[in-house]
Amino acid sequence: MEVNLSVNLWGIEFKNPVWVASGTFGYGLEASEIYDISELGAVVLKGLSLKPREGNEPPRIVETYCGMLNAIGLQNPGVEKFLADIYPQLEKFDTYFIANVFDETEEGYVEVVKALNGAKKIVAYELNVSCPNVKKGGMIFGHDERVLASLIERVKKATEKPVIVKLSPNVGDIKKFARVCVEAGADGLSLINTILAMKINVEKMRPELSIKTGGLSGPAILPIAVRMVYQVFEEVGGEVPIIGMGGISTPEDALEHILAGASAVQIGTANFYDPLAPLKVIEGIRDFLIRKGFTNFIDIVGKAHGE
Ligand SMILES: Cc1cc2nc3c(=O)[nH]c(=O)nc-3n(C[C@H](O)[C@H](O)[C@H](O)COP(=O)(O)O)c2cc1C
Repeated sequence: MEVNLSVNLWGIEFKNPVWVASGTFGYGLEASEIYDISELGAVVLKGLSLKPREGNEPPRIVETYCGMLNAIGLQNPGVEKFLADIYPQLEKFDTYFIANVFDETEEGYVEVVKALNGAKKIVAYELNVSCPNVKKGGMIFGHDERVLASLIERVKKATEKPVIVKLSPNVGDIKKFARVCVEAGADGLSLINTILAMKINVEKMRPELSIKTGGLSGPAILPIAVRMVYQVFEEVGGEVPIIGMGGISTPEDALEHILAGASAVQIGTANFYDPLAPLKVIEGIRDFLIRKGFTNFIDIVGKAHGE
């Protein structure tokens, strides 16, 4: 039986709903030496800011039960260097790229977006307003309703490409923030970013990470992410597409997100310990659809909500 895995969002036909998450896949070049990344629905690029950023001091990664904490601090070469040195290498791949954008000021976000507008392979932006690992910017944008709305309105004016806003899980009521984003003009929502957390080195009697706290990701966060996708779908499903991520390493994990309301999913931390995870997830979703008698992927989006 032929199944149709494609998903059309904002008039863009993604060949399948399995994407890779920002910061866990670089710019796709290393992975392209292991497999053909053109098989992915899309690649969300490592976060880009206007100026180059060194990130935080080490240690900035530590393993935890069923997951990891990171406090990278959005290290990146800056948008100019990206466009000169990295972007030309991406043009040969037959997949779409989504730029994950971060800066310390509203103006900075707008400048990064403007700089990338001419890059044809970049079909959408994902605004990171939810990074727990930086002193300036990051969660400040995602945790203040007025600041968030103003940022989205300004970025929307600076581009014709779809603007996805990446929500923070470190809030009391995620539905409220989803609503703010949609009212301000967001074309889609992605969730979740990492969850603010801490690990203490008992021998040293100090926190493991240089900046003390970090963002928790990996299988440990799956049930929290699924709950949030489900809630956000209840609030704005049908108005804008939701991109689900958080804890996905198997097809079943991805299907939980999809049944909760995600039109596409992103694989993050799993890329570090199972580089082929995204391909396995694509195949597993296909097998599930066949087994359940569906011919179109989109028919199962949000199915856990009932008729
Ligand atoms: C090492 C690392 C770096 C990350 N860098 C970014 C980033 O630059 N921008 C962003 O929006 N999210 C970033 N994230 C968050 C992921 O994209 C994803 O939202 C999160 O890890 C949850 O998914 P997972 O459990 O599948 O990893 C990063 C996560 C990790 C582990």
